[in-house]
Amino acid sequence: MPENKDKLFMGGILVAAVVLGAIAGVNGKGFKGQGGSDTADTGKQTEPETQPETDTQAETKETAAIVAERGTGITVTKADDWSTQFPNQYETYMLNNENDEVHEYTELHPYIQRIYAGYGFAKSYGSARGHTYVITDLTSTGRPHKLANCFTCKTSDFTAKALNEGDSAYATAFEDFVDQVTDPFGCFHCHTNEPGTMYVTHTYLANALGDDITKVDAATLSCGQCHSEYYFDPATKATTFGYTSMAGMNPDDMLAYENSIVDGEGNMFADWVDEENGIRKLKVQHPEFETILGEGSPHGSANAAFKLSCADCHMGKTKAADGTVFTDHEWTSPLDNPELLESTCAQCHKDLASEVEKIQTAYWERVDTEAEQLKALNDDLTAAINAGTIEGDALEECRMALRSAQWYWDFVFVENSNGVHNPTLTQHCLDQAQVFMDQASGLMQ
Ligand code: HEC
Ligand code: HEC
Ligand code: HEC
Ligand code: HEC
Repeated sequence: MPENKDKLFMGGILVAAVVLGAIAGVNGKGFKGQGGSDTADTGKQTEPETQPETDTQAETKETAAIVAERGTGITVTKADDWSTQFPNQYETYMLNNENDEVHEYTELHPYIQRIYAGYGFAKSYGSARGHTYVITDLTSTGRPHKLANCFTCKTSDFTAKALNEGDSAYATAFEDFVDQVTDPFGCFHCHTNEPGTMYVTHTYLANALGDDITKVDAATLSCGQCHSEYYFDPATKATTFGYTSMAGMNPDDMLAYENSIVDGEGNMFADWVDEENGIRKLKVQHPEFETILGEGSPHGSANAAFKLSCADCHMGKTKAADGTVFTDHEWTSPLDNPELLESTCAQCHKDLASEVEKIQTAYWERVDTEAEQLKALNDDLTAAINAGTIEGDALEECRMALRSAQWYWDFVFVENSNGVHNPTLTQHCLDQAQVFMDQASGLMQ
């Protein structure tokens, strides 16, 4: 193991105290970083030469995240405004513009037109691309938008609004907010206005983790703000996670949690109802955070022998022309980062690219096969209802089985690594999906 990585690794497990909620001695804007300064307020260069010369400096920062406080009237310093002060981070951040490839999932995987039928994602579902494209991709999608809560993971301006106004921000009409966007995916999400200091600005993440937040390193938390499974609270429309501690952060308990949310008429929470067969369906969204931290994750689970944060694999350290070591702010596949593969991964992974390819090939085989089955079972249920061959309790059980099967299948289908982040959890989900599909099929015999 190279020495520098060893240090980073050590940093990852020495979780320092996390300052939650009320931060003592807040300054003008209500934020106090580890350096205790407020760059936004004064516009002063408080961290001019602090780009780490060594990994040791970066390592201490990676250990602790500060949860931003609500109700402080914070404003956003845009990414572009940091370009001279933090040229290395800014320039690599701008490289995200080059990751502009986007695939249309409804064409690549036509089965989702049926599986998601009645929901926006059946009509238009673009694959992920560079962070800097989030607003273009949001406003140009064929999916309808009613509320501004869909800006939760797209712009610092909305993050600041939610911090300032609290949960009421989430129910703002889309049209009333869209023109206020000045900073698509900014530094603010992860640093507030103190680049280099790690903050959790999306407070629902802190609510979901409770005291367990100290068990997760700051870099992984910063990604978990968006790369995670959420739902919009039916009453407040606020972005909310389906767990309240790390113990509940797994697909089994998260499904039970969403099942336990029942409305006044006794209906279980649903993102939408399939009009043809009446299944109350759930849509999973990019659960990278839950997958990486989940049981069996080789580098992320609680008992992983060699821990790596999301940033260790997707950002990495690099050297500027003047020799300064800094964190690469281009978020890419580790396979597109030869420097990282060589310096860190190669000691244990002789050929990570082939390992990844092998896992992903097997993943797609199983995901596609199950999807075709799920699609057929949806149609079978519609046919059985129309033919009057299923009703009463059997019908309700069958709907429930297919709701569960779809949840498990979707949990891995929408996870962006295509099975690589946690092969064990992926197999568990696909096994569960199969169990529930077999049950549904039995009920229709
Ligand atoms: C998605 C989260 C995220 C965003 C957005 C982000 N950063 Fe960072 N930043 C990180 C992480 C993770 C680190 C590494 C922290 C560590 O190693 O302790 C970091 C480290 C830094 C550092 C410390 C020095 C270094 O390079 O390690 C600076 C300065 C910095 N970022 C500036 C910026 C600027 C400027 C922007 C916007 C152009 C930005 N960051 C956007 C996550 C982010
Ligand atoms: C504010 C929300 C947000 C945060 C924080 C965030 N992401 Fe993302 N990320 C997104 C969105 C949204 C997309 C998809 C962008 C698109 O396609 O328009 C994305 C896409 C990506 C991609 C795919 C890029 C490509 O070219 O295909 C990677 C890799 C990624 N994120 C990694 C990370 C990592 C690692 C972190 C933490 C250090 C992180 N993200 C933090 C919202 C976020
Ligand atoms: C142990 C290393 C490792 C860790 C830790 C890790 N990833 Fe990944 N990630 C990968 C690999 C490998 C891939 C597959 C890349 C490929 O297919 O080219 C991937 C794929 C992705 C993708 C899809 C990228 C694309 O180009 O479409 C996203 C998004 C992503 N990861 C986000 C995250 C987030 C967020 C975290 C933390 C919660 C995380 N990753 C933690 C290794 C890692
Ligand atoms: C100290 C050794 C070690 C280092 C260094 C290391 N890994 Fe791993 N990695 C492992 C082991 C062991 C596994 C589990 C393999 C298994 O279960 O077959 C694993 C599994 C993985 C997996 C899950 C898929 C698979 O291939 O089994 C990914 C993705 C991964 N590592 C990415 C990375 C990346 C990216 C780096 C560099 C940033 C890295 N690893 C560095 C030891 C290491």
